[in-house]
Amino acid sequence: MAKLNSPKRVVSGMRPTGQLHLGHLVGALHNWVALQDQYDCFYFVADWHALTTDFADTSQVTQYAYDNAVDWIAAGLDPERSTFFVQSMVPEHAELALLLSMVTPVTWLERVPTYKEQQETLGDKDLSSIGFLGYPLLQTADVAIYDANFVPVGEDQVAHLELSREVTRRFNRFYGDVLVEPQPLLTKVARLPGLDGGKKMSKSLGNTILLSDDADSVKKKVRSMYTDPKRVRPDIPGTVEGNPVFLYHDVFNPDVDEIEDLKSRYRAGKVGDVEVKDKLAKALNATLDPMRERRKELASRPERIREILVEGSRRARTVAVDTMARVRDAMKIVYR
Ligand code: TRP
Repeated sequence: MAKLNSPKRVVSGMRPTGQLHLGHLVGALHNWVALQDQYDCFYFVADWHALTTDFADTSQVTQYAYDNAVDWIAAGLDPERSTFFVQSMVPEHAELALLLSMVTPVTWLERVPTYKEQQETLGDKDLSSIGFLGYPLLQTADVAIYDANFVPVGEDQVAHLELSREVTRRFNRFYGDVLVEPQPLLTKVARLPGLDGGKKMSKSLGNTILLSDDADSVKKKVRSMYTDPKRVRPDIPGTVEGNPVFLYHDVFNPDVDEIEDLKSRYRAGKVGDVEVKDKLAKALNATLDPMRERRKELASRPERIREILVEGSRRARTVAVDTMARVRDAMKIVYR
């Protein structure tokens, strides 16, 4: 159990399936950074979880893991204050997931809404594996093995957390009060549409701005953004609501007066798209510039990121090993 008077623990993970983009920044990383002030945070690269959908080609997983960790630090996560680790470097996650699988009815996993949804939306992938079905169970182990009180997640993960809570309760019913029931920590996050106006930024749709994009690419990508299509000339009044260019302004541009001015001129047909977009690109680059600085520092010492993950994984593992000793005791699977 978590010790009295120690800060509550937060655990969250990210799958290393590609380069991180602005959606990750506002959807997770900003929140992760803020949580460092208040909680004992464990943040990890969920590399086994990446295999649930991408098992056929594993050649990029470790590179993405390193790249993502660089982005975390660039975004303001501090490996001195938080524990960064890699799921597969703490193999006890697999042991706990296996033991949890013994008490978990298959139907509980089948009825997690993301299971069927993803099978439908990711139709090009073979999602018939036990690993994919067991995704939320492995996620339960990820969290329970650290006695996590809170799990910062987006809306899409709430069903997984609910499953985690049910599974830990069921486990505790059999073996005593062993596992902490995790609570979701839902933060209201701005949903960023894709550059193409599509529902969200996604690597596979190619509609993202990467955290590692340089200033010029950002400008070019913003220039190509979807905006009000009926505005073929700057003197045609445009629609601000739901317009991705203005949605981004609202999220990234701290100059509210500038936004208001642009919006009213846009509605009146008194501003060109290029001005609105270039001001957005400027705001985005102002957000990304400090990250670029930190990334440059890290790039000069590439071995540093590996060390951080190895050291963090070692630290995480000491906690995981303790929990597993407790779990084996509670289950009476002990030989000594
Ligand atoms: N399922 C999460 C996602 O896709 C990633 C993840 C794996 C996770 N294990 C976790 C998140 C444990 C929080 C806690 O975003």
